[in-house]
Amino acid sequence: MSEDLAEWLSDSNEVFNLQMVRDPEDEDVLENEDQQAIEPFNPNFTYPIFGEHEKIFGYKGLDIQLKFASGSLRQYLSINYDSRLNSTATPADELEGTLYKFIPSDYTKSDLDFQKIVETDAENFKPLGERVGSYVKQAKSKSKSKGKGKGKGKVEDAGDGEIKEDDEGAVVFEMYKSTWSTTGFRDYHRRMQLFILLFIEGGSYVQEDEDSWEFITLYEKRKRPNSDIFTYHFVGYTSVYPFWCYPDQVRLRLSQFVILPPYQHQGHGSKLYSALFSSMLSRPEVAELTVEDPAEAFEDLRDRNDLRFLYKQGITEDPMFTVGLGEDSRSERAEWETKLRKKYKIAQRQFDRLLEMLLLKNLN
Ligand code: ACO
Repeated sequence: MSEDLAEWLSDSNEVFNLQMVRDPEDEDVLENEDQQAIEPFNPNFTYPIFGEHEKIFGYKGLDIQLKFASGSLRQYLSINYDSRLNSTATPADELEGTLYKFIPSDYTKSDLDFQKIVETDAENFKPLGERVGSYVKQAKSKSKSKGKGKGKGKVEDAGDGEIKEDDEGAVVFEMYKSTWSTTGFRDYHRRMQLFILLFIEGGSYVQEDEDSWEFITLYEKRKRPNSDIFTYHFVGYTSVYPFWCYPDQVRLRLSQFVILPPYQHQGHGSKLYSALFSSMLSRPEVAELTVEDPAEAFEDLRDRNDLRFLYKQGITEDPMFTVGLGEDSRSERAEWETKLRKKYKIAQRQFDRLLEMLLLKNLN
């Protein structure tokens, strides 16, 4: 491409700005690091939409804004630029038509309409499906919470009972399970699936005609000050598919898993994964949990959580843990491993890796 034309190229990850929008009343109460939930963020990947080079041709000063009502995920699209190349030989890329293929058609382009949507949805939107877990995030005091990473609030289990919200700054997170038969979920899923393309390398939309998909969505839940209204704000989700497992069980395959960037590195991914893990442990029809093409960051999250789980079960204190590593009692050890692996429903390869990591740690 000539130098002149190169001026008209933009990086599609950089010019595509995403944002989760709350009612101003609900934004005002956000303090410190929680503010980041409403800051704009960029996708990790846009090649499924704009092509493998992740470039958009034909614009200068391009700014594509896709905003989501933070709970209902209804969308607002705005495409702005300083100038657009007017050439029949090298036409500018079509933008709205391209995006249109990936988002539900009911998005608005009107600021005013979107403002109204956000206001009404904030009061009316409730997560779809059945609540399957919750936990509390404890906010740090103002002085400690400046900056990224270390200053972030900790997440804690809310337990099974009522959630205590009397701690100042505590924010509740809730998880909901749904399937295609959950009323309204098919439409909701069409609004959230874009995050799979934008954040998971090699991610693609699931087939809606495959009946058995299961989803767990995660929300931040806030009480609006001086009112009885609870508002819900989308954090991320995971999808799993049950495959038949001989003779009469299913193997659950985790297919997609995403936590939105404003919520990453705060422990939410671990909470969502643990909720999925305990729910599959309690289901007699599930033989094991497997993961489809895990990204490195996810593999890391899975390892840390699985290791923590096995520690909690006391596996390293089991007399069999170090028995049979030599020649003598190999078969006895193999039997012990198989029994535990089946009990904890961890896939063979993953269980072998975990045991190896635990043994190495033990040796050190
Ligand atoms: N304060 C500070 N850091 C914390 C806290 C806390 N309270 N709690 C956890 N962390 C750290 C962890 O130690 C960990 O750090 P490290 O990665 O540097 O070791 C890190 O935060 C991640 O742990 P979580 O916070 O539990 O995970 P997160 O919520 O960030 O989710 C995930 C991880 C899912 C990979 C997320 O980054 C994401 O969605 N990425 C993009 C999409 C993606 O890659 N998905 C997986 C695809 S694979 C598949 O779908 C099968």
